[in-house]
Amino acid sequence: MSNDAILKIKDKEYSLPMIVGSEGETAIDTRKLRNQSGCITYDEGYGNTGSCQSDITFIDGEQGILRYRGYPIDELALKSDFIETTYLIIYGDLPTSEQRAEFARLLSANAHVHSGMIHLLEGYSRDAHPMAILSAMVNSLGCYDPHLATNDHKHDLENFSEASAVAISKVRTIAAVSYRVSKGLPVIYPKEGLSYCDNFLHMMFSEPNQDYVATPEVSHALNLLLLLHADHEQNCSTSTVRMVASSGANLSASTSAGICALWGPKHGGANMAVIKMLESIHAEGDDGSRFVEAAKTGKGGKRLMGFGHRVYKNFDPRAKIIGQACEKLLDSLGIEDPCLDIARHLESVALKDDYFIERKLYPNVDFYSGIVMRAIGIPLNMFTVMFAIGRMPGWIANWKEVASDPKGKIYRPRQIYTGPVKRDYVSIENR
Ligand code: SDX
Repeated sequence: MSNDAILKIKDKEYSLPMIVGSEGETAIDTRKLRNQSGCITYDEGYGNTGSCQSDITFIDGEQGILRYRGYPIDELALKSDFIETTYLIIYGDLPTSEQRAEFARLLSANAHVHSGMIHLLEGYSRDAHPMAILSAMVNSLGCYDPHLATNDHKHDLENFSEASAVAISKVRTIAAVSYRVSKGLPVIYPKEGLSYCDNFLHMMFSEPNQDYVATPEVSHALNLLLLLHADHEQNCSTSTVRMVASSGANLSASTSAGICALWGPKHGGANMAVIKMLESIHAEGDDGSRFVEAAKTGKGGKRLMGFGHRVYKNFDPRAKIIGQACEKLLDSLGIEDPCLDIARHLESVALKDDYFIERKLYPNVDFYSGIVMRAIGIPLNMFTVMFAIGRMPGWIANWKEVASDPKGKIYRPRQIYTGPVKRDYVSIENR
């Protein structure tokens, strides 16, 4: 008895093999369907389509499960940190102490950006959006280290450890320098001996004659935030990275494309949209109840930002972890943020409301992350930049999977054409 799926089209049957993943997920392999039947499958938004087989991240949306290389997100959040988790996601296993030390050395050695890049950053208008700058600058990394961006995957993989350290370390420096330049502040350079997160905060908030020293709670909250964003299966931006990588493009170009995809309000831009939503609710003297009613009708395009997810039809495990960290951070800093009270109220109201229950809409990773970033002092227009810094390990690991596949095909979906049928040209006099 074959395990194949049988598809019947009119009077013909087609046998399609099944693919089963290590967690028992199943897929119908339709790669030969068009040749056999002349038909393609149709799945607008790819909600039910597997674009690849990957070893990096497993999500079970129904159970609210998220694992990086098999390790549950709540365990990593409790016991690991962003740099160790970055190594895990990129290289597939938790590092030994020697591997971790070598990785840290590579990151420190690549923390500075070329002086030419600082001139580029100084050329942007003060109100240029940091995501536009970040995508351009990340793509430009290949201009300063052309040996890392040859668009020959075999060659680029030979330099992969350096290229990935450049991407991880410099994305953070670019973000901080971009912020300083946009505020007309002197550039603060990376400092030897500081951890990844503490160095970012140093580059963001120190002054030439006064070092910013992060409290342990702030440093931990930023570490956790980046760790929780580090990868998330084939989301919009990661799929974009794989799409671009499949053409043979280098790591900088592919991750730059991922930054552009992340910018949208339905994806990485949601963390900014959540804060704007909470602030507007607060400004209107609403505790959130009126807004929830409006979001249910969709009037005025109102949506409960930070709620809902294409995959999680249960709680986003990251939202729970960030929500708890948020309370701890604000307590440690003695911050009373009305947005947190409103967020908590929205969550409690929505979780009891049939509209959200029926549509399985729960808080996602973006619902509390903005409150944490605001407490740290990250400006609103950099929230999605922080998401990009966190997601860089996942994009790099996915680029590597595509680049390492010797039989890798360029990603080229088909379509169903719905435009005009054949018609003859008509000269302009006769139109
Ligand atoms: C991220 O893919 C990833 O993994 C992404 C991410 C990652 O780590 O990379 O997890 C990060 O992008 C999280 C999502 C951040 N975006 C937001 O918080 C924006 C608000 N959320 C929605 O835009 C929406 O929930 C999406 C885009 C996240 C998911 O949308 P779907 O699955 O395509 O659902 P849908 O748009 O088809 O909506 C289904 C129903 C509709 O109602 P009906 O037409 O059935 O009556 O649910 C409603 C929608 O109107 N709905 C919402 C809602 N989200 C969906 N109603 C009110 N508020 C919302 N937020």
